[in-house]
Amino acid sequence: MTSSSFSSCASCFLQNHQGVGGGRYSRRTSRQSRPSSSSSRRQRRVLFLRVCAAQRTSGNDDDLDEDEDATKTKQQHQRNEKKPKKNIAVFISGGGSNIRAVHAACETGEIHGQISLVVTSSYNAGGVEWAMDRDVPVLLYPGGKDLEESERICPSELNEFLKNEYKIDVVLLAGYLRLIPPELCRTFENKMLNIHPALLPAFGGRGMHGAKVHEAVVNSGARFTGPTVHFVNENFDEGKIVAQRIIRIDPSWTAEEVARRVLKEEHEVFPEVVAALCDDRIEFRETDGVGVIIDKMDSNKRY
Ligand code: GRF
Repeated sequence: MTSSSFSSCASCFLQNHQGVGGGRYSRRTSRQSRPSSSSSRRQRRVLFLRVCAAQRTSGNDDDLDEDEDATKTKQQHQRNEKKPKKNIAVFISGGGSNIRAVHAACETGEIHGQISLVVTSSYNAGGVEWAMDRDVPVLLYPGGKDLEESERICPSELNEFLKNEYKIDVVLLAGYLRLIPPELCRTFENKMLNIHPALLPAFGGRGMHGAKVHEAVVNSGARFTGPTVHFVNENFDEGKIVAQRIIRIDPSWTAEEVARRVLKEEHEVFPEVVAALCDDRIEFRETDGVGVIIDKMDSNKRY
């Protein structure tokens, strides 16, 4: 399928194509701000020597740990600078807080990627306006009853569109309520993540979304909850788990309180896993295919 045949599909777009990496997501030129003259090189060297001298005299272990962490983060950023940023498509249906969290992490450089496309099941999803304000193209899929049959895109068109038109590397389901077509699951095998607001494999599956999940957790008497990030397969909430966060449930908490706390954790764990995927820091166990994250600070550590 060509770009022109996609663009003729006017209604499935809420906003027209702005170009991959266009708008505010164009790669930031950190190189431009780097000092290049010999005097600034000298200044940096002097600064570096001062830092080394200070380390030798203060000799505090915590300081050393922090310096080591900073060096490792810098090394990861330097490795990333050589690689192109990953193109991320985010599928949404709801409030849009996770897409914002992922975007913020792209902006700080924690995620070496950029949100190049938003796919939504509903015009009213919270993240739609947010994306349009930032010139991120938004695609409606599968589209509601009000959409003419000729205006809909089919799963293979969606697949082609992501793969060839937008060169998407990573797909994120951030509160997307529709089932993902098998074709897309195959194309993005181990490249598509979902975030679920409970500890899978419990409290998941068809129909388990939003407040229902937290009500079920509280009503069950479960003492722990927390978000799960998992790879996506053809069934709701069934792909292999890659990360979880645990929250101890206080018996006095309502489902709303649980939801609030889980969502806060989601905004940390999701960007963290997306960063690992974009850095190619996820390994797959040979025995069962479970994705294991390589620590960004210590490449010998797995979790
Ligand atoms: C989150 O709770 C996520 O776990 C679930 O849907 C919700 C989406 O929230 N899959 P938001 O739209 O990102 O605010």
